[in-house]
Amino acid sequence: MDIKLIQFSPHGDDRGQLVALEETREIPFPIKRVYYMYKTVPDAVRGKHAHRKLEQVLVCLHGSCKVRLDDGKEKQVVLLDKPWEGLYLSNVVWREMFDFSPDAVLMVLASDYYDEADYIRNYGDFLAFLRKQSEKEGN
Ligand code: TYD
Repeated sequence: MDIKLIQFSPHGDDRGQLVALEETREIPFPIKRVYYMYKTVPDAVRGKHAHRKLEQVLVCLHGSCKVRLDDGKEKQVVLLDKPWEGLYLSNVVWREMFDFSPDAVLMVLASDYYDEADYIRNYGDFLAFLRKQSEKEGN
């Protein structure tokens, strides 16, 4: 599956840690939007969608959560529990965020503004989109 865990380099000293994220450097795209989730209720499942074009990096700044990923062929669960690690999602992948700890703060850096037209919110539509995409690419 075409996902990447990016390890950031904290600037640590005797006062603590600091992570700096710059677009096109630690973050592989120009950042147009930042959003974050907190006070997520323990059994909530967020996401449940894919994006047509959007690139994102997910960083769990505090606490922990899990991300279920599905590219139509493979499924994978990634644990996010480190503020110095980012999950980069560049391709069309179904994602579900779940198992949030009560103190979890999940920040998302995105390559574009919020656009409902970029969302695929139905799993059947997601599989159909992937099929069309691979037909176009001649696979
Ligand atoms: P939603 O898409 O349900 O979040 P998630 O996929 O993470 O579970 O978004 C919840 C609400 O927030 C919905 O009304 C749309 C709005 N929203 C914005 O206005 N801007 C944004 O950047 C995002 C991600 C959501």
